[in-house]
Amino acid sequence: MPIRAWFPTFIYNEPLQKSGLTQLNLELAEECRRLRDFDVAGRRWSKKNYPGGYTSYASMNELHRFSSTFAELEKKFTRHVQVFARSLEMDLRGRSIRLTDLWVNIMPPTTAHSLHLHPLSFISGTYYVATPAGCSGLKFEDPRLDRFMAAPPKRTSTREENQAHITYPAEAGQLILFESWLRHEVAAHRVPEERISVSFNFNWS
Ligand code: NI
Repeated sequence: MPIRAWFPTFIYNEPLQKSGLTQLNLELAEECRRLRDFDVAGRRWSKKNYPGGYTSYASMNELHRFSSTFAELEKKFTRHVQVFARSLEMDLRGRSIRLTDLWVNIMPPTTAHSLHLHPLSFISGTYYVATPAGCSGLKFEDPRLDRFMAAPPKRTSTREENQAHITYPAEAGQLILFESWLRHEVAAHRVPEERISVSFNFNWS
């Protein structure tokens, strides 16, 4: 072949664990809602920055330090991140990875999360706790989009790897990992039941 692909972007998508997801998610959903009830500062911040929804991103973003439920999740996330980092061929010999932030997101109808990336970390991810049928997925953007300044538009039916966006469906029990510089968004939630997820960042030293 005269043409080869280089510099790929990788996204990891796996169930958190092999069994017990339904029970785990029921308990997590309850804990997330309790947190919302309790976290006045978070509700105030969300009102301005996450209209209609609740996120503990700016108020309680080290939940793994204060709750045994989230400390358990930290252990599980760490194992997956190690696998992902190995497959990205990152040299972590003599180095350690650490979960720095872990927060909760609850989206009622109309709440959206616009395009963003996760500063001060190298791998980020989201774990899905409650994903009612028809809820929005996680949409990633080609990181080179701003460099295609003079490119003609793509055909409507390109090969998957040539699309400018890819949306991963949000599925309870699934974990999605990506490199933290990869921009992503969640379109407005459009079904009555709440969509609940736990997001997190990892750094290394
Ligand atoms: Ni994000």
